[in-house]
Amino acid sequence: MSPASPIARRRVVVTGALGGIGSAVTARLLAEGARVLAVDHPDVVRSDPGPAAPDRHVLGVDLRDPAASGEVARQAAERLGGLDGLVNNAGVELRAPISEHVDERWDAVLDVNLGAPFRLARDLADLLASGRSAAVVNVCSIAVTGFAGQIAYDASKGGLLTLTRSLAVELGPRGVRANAVCPGFIDTPMLDEGALRPIAERVARTLPLRRLGRPADVAGAVSWLLGEDAGYVTGQSLFIDGGMNRS
Ligand SMILES: NC(=O)c1ccc[n+]([C@@H]2O[C@H](COP(=O)([O-])OP(=O)(O)OC[C@H]3O[C@@H](n4cnc5c(N)ncnc54)[C@H](O)[C@@H]3O)[C@@H](O)[C@H]2O)c1
Repeated sequence: MSPASPIARRRVVVTGALGGIGSAVTARLLAEGARVLAVDHPDVVRSDPGPAAPDRHVLGVDLRDPAASGEVARQAAERLGGLDGLVNNAGVELRAPISEHVDERWDAVLDVNLGAPFRLARDLADLLASGRSAAVVNVCSIAVTGFAGQIAYDASKGGLLTLTRSLAVELGPRGVRANAVCPGFIDTPMLDEGALRPIAERVARTLPLRRLGRPADVAGAVSWLLGEDAGYVTGQSLFIDGGMNRS
């Protein structure tokens, strides 16, 4: 740990913290001396709660449960003693043509990817506003640009991007910044859901940077946006995509 890290001793909630990107974000924040409430689905937490560390607190909640955001707020206050950062990273993917987007599947994607970040921002806003230079980072996606075969996912991430901008203007006067990261294809288990991996690997070979992204690529950007070095940055979206939206 570097004592000079801009996020040392920051208290941060990370959702989807046991997944590919979430694990890397959590590891990076802990390495920089932050204290983390690592939130993930109870089934995931039960089967593998992840590495033990004194500053890593784990909470299993289903973010689709309307009571989950209140529980996260209670646990952040109790176990971290307050809150300086929220990383809305939990997300689900749905690869299917529009005809197969029945209401139930649409609702599920929108609820996890957009409803839950909204409820968390709403229920954690007071804690964040009384924190130290607090910041929200929402994990959106290159999908905000719109792709075929994933209409609910794209719409959810587009909504999350706009939610980020609204949070920036509404919570800015209370001392809370809000920014988005938009990863391109990142090498995590999500690429294996819905058989995205072959497409991702083919596209990666054509990108300016000629490779898939790594979870650590996203973690570095999230850490920077949470810290004081980004203290005058709010309402922005940072694409972490190997140049995909320019190629
Ligand atoms: N991997 C990529 O290429 C990529 C690209 C762009 C954006 N993203 C976004 O990055 C974020 C992390 O994705 P990842 O690739 O690490 O995927 P992942 O599947 O490895 O991780 C997602 C995490 O979210 C958790 N989660 C899902 N539903 C939940 C619920 N109802 N309650 C609590 N937790 C829940 C899962 O348990 C999992 O740990 C997602 O928001 C995803 O949309 C990923």
